[in-house]
Amino acid sequence: MKNPKITHKITQGMYVLTVPGGGCVVDAVARVGSSGDQVLVAVSVAKTNHSHKLLSDNARFALSVLGEHCDPDIIKTFGFNSSKDIDKCTTCETMEISDVPVLKKSVGYMVLDKFDQIENDTHTIFIGKLIEGDILDDSAQPMTYAYYQDHKDDLAKASTTAGKTAWVCKACGYIYYGEEVPDDYICPLCGLGKAYFEKKQ
Ligand SMILES: Cc1cc2nc3c(=O)[nH]c(=O)nc-3n(C[C@H](O)[C@H](O)[C@H](O)COP(=O)(O)O)c2cc1C
Repeated sequence: MKNPKITHKITQGMYVLTVPGGGCVVDAVARVGSSGDQVLVAVSVAKTNHSHKLLSDNARFALSVLGEHCDPDIIKTFGFNSSKDIDKCTTCETMEISDVPVLKKSVGYMVLDKFDQIENDTHTIFIGKLIEGDILDDSAQPMTYAYYQDHKDDLAKASTTAGKTAWVCKACGYIYYGEEVPDDYICPLCGLGKAYFEKKQ
């Protein structure tokens, strides 16, 4: 591939997906249909993420829209930790809307009922039907994935885990922490394998 970073040019946003029990940062989100009152939103979730299990076990999920000036701890907590290990919804401030936790501090949120899903080897695309939503900060600029890529040294700085080596996915910028990237590791963000990870100097 000449330059996998071309995918950074796809215009998409940054969100925190939440489900009772946890959630994760997602950028693979798209509004995939609307007719009348029915709005459908798709989110692609890696099968290796604990959020995938939580989503499989729950009928409802939420997406909070991150603003450009969001607290970097939100990205650290939801994007670089697993809900298996920490209670993300108490580490970051959340509130219950229609029985689902959403971020208290975001541009706004959408609550969706699972409507359909599409499987591939590494990810499931969950399609949700919008049942509730609100704008919490109308003056905030929603963060794009491109903005995150341009500012990730600041936004993800807090995620540096003491004593662990950081491995960066050359395709999407996702950081894996550990002494070695496992042979069967699949990037939760873009689905590429170990060969795409290089040691952060
Ligand atoms: C900028 C960024 C974008 C991400 N986008 C996605 C995504 O679209 N889908 C996904 O499954 N994981 C995505 N991730 C990875 C998850 O947020 C991450 O693996 C998280 O730690 C999983 O937590 P969990 O095990 O609690 O589900 C993204 C991470 C970052 C930092």
